[in-house]
Amino acid sequence: MTQDPLVVFTPSGKRGRFPAGTPVLTAARQLGVDLDSVCGGRGICSKCQVVPGFGDFPKHGIHSGEDALSGWNTVEARYDEKRGLPPGRRLSCQAQILGDVVIDVPPESQVHRQVVRKAASARVIEMDPATRLYYIEVEAPDMHEPTGDLERIARALKAQWGIEKISTEFSTLAFLQPILRKGAWKITVALHKTDISADPRLIAAWPGLHEAGIYGLAIDLGSTTIAAHLTDLDSGAVIASSGIMNPQIRFGEDLMSRVSYAMMNPGGDAEMTAAVREAISTLASEIAREAGIDPALILETVFVCNPVMHHLLLGIDPVELGQAPFALATSSALNLTAADLGLTTLPSSAQVYILPCIAGHVGADAAAVALSEQPGKSEDLVLIVDVGTNAEILLGDKTRVLACSSPTGPAFEGAQISSGQRAAAGAIEAVRIDPETKEPRFRIIGSKFWSDERGFAKAVARSGITGICGSGIIEAVAEMRMAGVLDASGLIGSAEQTGSARCIAEGRTHAYVLHDGRATGGPLITVTQGDIRAIQLAKSALYAGARLLMDTRGVDKVDRVVLAGAFGAHISPLHAMVLGMIPDVPLDKVTSAGNAAGTGARIALCNLAARRQIEADVGAITKVETAIEPRFQEHFVAANAIPHATDPFPELAREVTLPQVGFKKGDEGGGRRRRRRA
Ligand code: FES
Repeated sequence: MTQDPLVVFTPSGKRGRFPAGTPVLTAARQLGVDLDSVCGGRGICSKCQVVPGFGDFPKHGIHSGEDALSGWNTVEARYDEKRGLPPGRRLSCQAQILGDVVIDVPPESQVHRQVVRKAASARVIEMDPATRLYYIEVEAPDMHEPTGDLERIARALKAQWGIEKISTEFSTLAFLQPILRKGAWKITVALHKTDISADPRLIAAWPGLHEAGIYGLAIDLGSTTIAAHLTDLDSGAVIASSGIMNPQIRFGEDLMSRVSYAMMNPGGDAEMTAAVREAISTLASEIAREAGIDPALILETVFVCNPVMHHLLLGIDPVELGQAPFALATSSALNLTAADLGLTTLPSSAQVYILPCIAGHVGADAAAVALSEQPGKSEDLVLIVDVGTNAEILLGDKTRVLACSSPTGPAFEGAQISSGQRAAAGAIEAVRIDPETKEPRFRIIGSKFWSDERGFAKAVARSGITGICGSGIIEAVAEMRMAGVLDASGLIGSAEQTGSARCIAEGRTHAYVLHDGRATGGPLITVTQGDIRAIQLAKSALYAGARLLMDTRGVDKVDRVVLAGAFGAHISPLHAMVLGMIPDVPLDKVTSAGNAAGTGARIALCNLAARRQIEADVGAITKVETAIEPRFQEHFVAANAIPHATDPFPELAREVTLPQVGFKKGDEGGGRRRRRRA
């Protein structure tokens, strides 16, 4: 008896025998092969493309002849003529199995394809979106068999896709009738699932086959900035990224001042809610315009944010978050719609997912960092600091993860710094100071040249040199310390004390001149004593938070440090450690994760299972409350010195010797020169 043809799918390796004449797509479905389709095998969506292999495949024990598949049919020929099929490709819904064959499913035809992140620490994101498209052909209405249009859509989904039951977003219902008629009863619907086992919800529909794609926004709603990544929900590709300032800044720069504003001003919380919702709506329409897509195609949004932003986004008065026991209205993940949040530029039915909060001071942004960096899977003890206006800090390994939040203030983002500015063209982002001459050189955003290199003047001619951004101020302060113009207590020396004319008097204190552009109408860019104090406060809060977690865990050191945050990628490990932002570890054990909270938001946007995972993980994280912990204050005071008053930094000492200078009034300063290892 002759056997049915054997088909082997790669890369999955799934194999099975099927009667001759079985469409490749049908075989794939029966074997559970990850192969996409929107049109349900009608030969119009082209999502089901495969690459048949011909020849000998000893690994699979197959010889695949040229006649192993049926020849091109008219559907494929028509598709190729109209849109073009790449050489060697077939539409799996059209090609029939006639003999033993090996079929490769290219990544773009897989539903669960992997999206590789660009960052060096790239971890792949597996696509498993909550919203998917289905093309259906719906029965026309019949007077003799009266059923509603929606009921016939449900019937078509059941018959053509095996989807048993759907519900409908109310706002979608109003659009269904004209769409059905325009499409002559052939439509594409977007179905959204909040969970793998949940009944899908019909959230959008288009006449005919919808080919313009669907998109999602991953939004990191920070106290100072709001960053959004517009993501293709089919491929997972980020097609545009954009950010704006959080307009709530006018109500208070940090979280607690916004909570106070809500406490002191009746209706203040509603004012801040309206401001942030309007800003998000503007950001959504701007990013869609930038990417050249219709905002109506943005069907999902995922938010990560700290607890105060979380409540203000939801329209909940954050007053309880300003006082012990810091009770959240809810710490659970939320599934909402754009209409619920008043996001006017998105479709009303667009689905919103907000990650769970960890505790009253540790929000969904920290949960997103945990989702992205997975400290709970780490073999060694990792400290993750997400540097922003509020620092999210996680410490853990596979045995236990602890988390806290620390009020660093906006100094690390260039705010509250005399020459500070956001990271944009013209901002000084990197600084070096010669320990002998105390002369600085620097690099600005938008130029690859250092300021003492040929080509710099030309490169910066357009933007000018306009200020210092977050990474620039961190490097500037650390370099000042290494060059001996700043002492361990954080005092800037005078010109006399340091031997540098760049140290100028400013009232009763001193400032260090990084750049003087006044002769050509530019700014005088200095690092003032006030700037140093702002950075000291910020870094002390960060370090004290980390130390508190280490105390709770009962350790004095960690194995590695991950710097996260919007500018985490730009902070140099050496400078962060000279400043005492992070505990002492070998420099090669400090890595950057870029914007980990934003990445966590992207993962949750692209992968439904990841939402369940972080909801479960959050429950197992131990929360440490910095605000009521007396040791936090002790650690904070000790961390004020640069790098630290009492904690030893042996690993840092291997890299650099910090000058023993002290600038008490009348002191001539000076001190040993620094030595930096090659
Ligand atoms: S499944 Fe749509 S073209 Fe094959």
